[in-house]
Amino acid sequence: MLKIIVRDDYKGMSEEAERIFREHLRRSDVIGFATGSTPLLLYKRLSSMCRSGKISFKDKISFNLDEYYRIHPSDPRSFRHFMDTNLFNNIDIRQENIHFPDSTVGQKAAVERYKKELEEHGPIDFQILGIGRNGHIAFNEPGSGMNSGIRIISLSRDTIERNGNVPQKAITMGIAEILSAGTIMLMASGKDKKEAMEKALYGPITADVPASFLRKHSNVYIVADSAALPPKRK
Ligand code: GLP
Repeated sequence: MLKIIVRDDYKGMSEEAERIFREHLRRSDVIGFATGSTPLLLYKRLSSMCRSGKISFKDKISFNLDEYYRIHPSDPRSFRHFMDTNLFNNIDIRQENIHFPDSTVGQKAAVERYKKELEEHGPIDFQILGIGRNGHIAFNEPGSGMNSGIRIISLSRDTIERNGNVPQKAITMGIAEILSAGTIMLMASGKDKKEAMEKALYGPITADVPASFLRKHSNVYIVADSAALPPKRK
């Protein structure tokens, strides 16, 4: 079931996402984080709340959805670097509780390791998601099936163009792992996402629009601003 919440602008959308996140934080031991510009303000707000002692990640375990392949975690283009800068360095999460795909090893080892880590600590209790302009979630590009799992994927041209000078491959959680999360919160902002959002929420459920598979899950929050999801379609 989808719970759709639309706010006027990016700030309102981020405040709503923060409210939902905090509501779930206490009962969520394992948190799934996403990268991208969409959750940036949410991460900023969580960082300052943690600094002021209102929330804590001391006993939390984190998993990130994806990472470019291959890339070193210290590379400024890496998702690990993004998460360190925008969240992990600002909160009290323990380094050993942060789980990320290892993008420095061979493909098979990278996939096996991340699968094993998720099997050991998962499933994810609360998963944050963004959406790509082409309807991708994590790096599950169009064509990704509902049963797809953690794997190495070739990025679409649209994604590479949008994300800049990045590797052409990535390691990503599959739709299957995402749908195994207890609660999912998909965030979307800006008119660039409107078409993908409308297809995901109201079009056919299909691998052509991987985000449409979220409608198969029983507990999904869609938090958007009105540019990404015009209220008339609510
Ligand atoms: C990347 C990530 C996704 C993210 C998407 C949207 O491709 N792999 O997890 O949701 O970009 O990013 P943005 O929020 O910057 O639009």
